[in-house]
Amino acid sequence: MSGQRFEPKEENFCALFIVGTDTGVGKTLVCGLLLDFFRRQGRRAITQKWVQTGAADDLAEHDTRALPAVVPPAAQERRVCYRFALPASPHLAAAAERRKISAIKIRRNFRELAADYETVIVEGSGGVLVPYNRTRYLIEIAASLHLPVLLVAENRVGAINHTLLSVEALRRRGLSLAGILFTQCHPPQHDEEAALANNPVIVRALSGEPVLGVLEYSADREVLRARSAAIFTRFCSRKGAGALRGIKCERRIV
Ligand SMILES: Nc1ncnc2c1ncn2[C@@H]1O[C@H](COP(=O)(O)OP(=O)(O)OP(=O)(O)O)[C@@H](O)[C@H]1O
Ligand SMILES: [Mg+2]
Repeated sequence: MSGQRFEPKEENFCALFIVGTDTGVGKTLVCGLLLDFFRRQGRRAITQKWVQTGAADDLAEHDTRALPAVVPPAAQERRVCYRFALPASPHLAAAAERRKISAIKIRRNFRELAADYETVIVEGSGGVLVPYNRTRYLIEIAASLHLPVLLVAENRVGAINHTLLSVEALRRRGLSLAGILFTQCHPPQHDEEAALANNPVIVRALSGEPVLGVLEYSADREVLRARSAAIFTRFCSRKGAGALRGIKCERRIV
């Protein structure tokens, strides 16, 4: 934990940590759409990826989804803290290159970005309990920064278990959930429809957490943009103990 307290320059600074119920559930897509949403609202927004493993380039993918913005080279460098070639969990991908992941460096990069931007959206790696070494999980770094979490859950048969386990794991480690967003990474099969319609309802009832909606499958970028904007607008306009409690980050970040 720790370091000095940090006060974002921006009065209405907000940040979100985007975590998934698994790898490949739509975190990158959601980060890109959120980046676009905030930029279209005129906010100076940026995304960050703490640990990128394998050949994928999630930040580049965020940028292709969003309104373009000029990002100075120093900020661009801070957006990705670590890159490893092995497509595996950060602890293993780092060990394969005989490197160590430093929570201090990640927190420093986050704070430096947060000092220059009004909104910082961080894409986690894989699912909730992803380690960055033999004893620590990435979400512990998010907890130490007091980042509210948006949980992205793939809406499929089996999602109830994955989502509720993820919620429990986040709570146990002191993270505060801004909400759960379901995604549909594939066109639904006919016989899945009842399960897919019920998943958000039962997860909401059992967890008591806000479900922001379901980002239904579409191969059309504009359709995804419009659907996600409608979900994010509702998310940001809710007041009080609703979803906004998460997205409006504490002004003080440790
Ligand atoms: N609503 C949707 N409509 C269409 N495609 C979707 C939707 N949600 C997710 N996908 C697709 O599912 C795939 C996996 O999504 P994505 O790469 O965002 O997952 P991820 O959680 O970021 O994975 P990783 O753990 O590797 O970072 C992508 O091809 C993405 O475009
Ligand atoms: Mg991703």
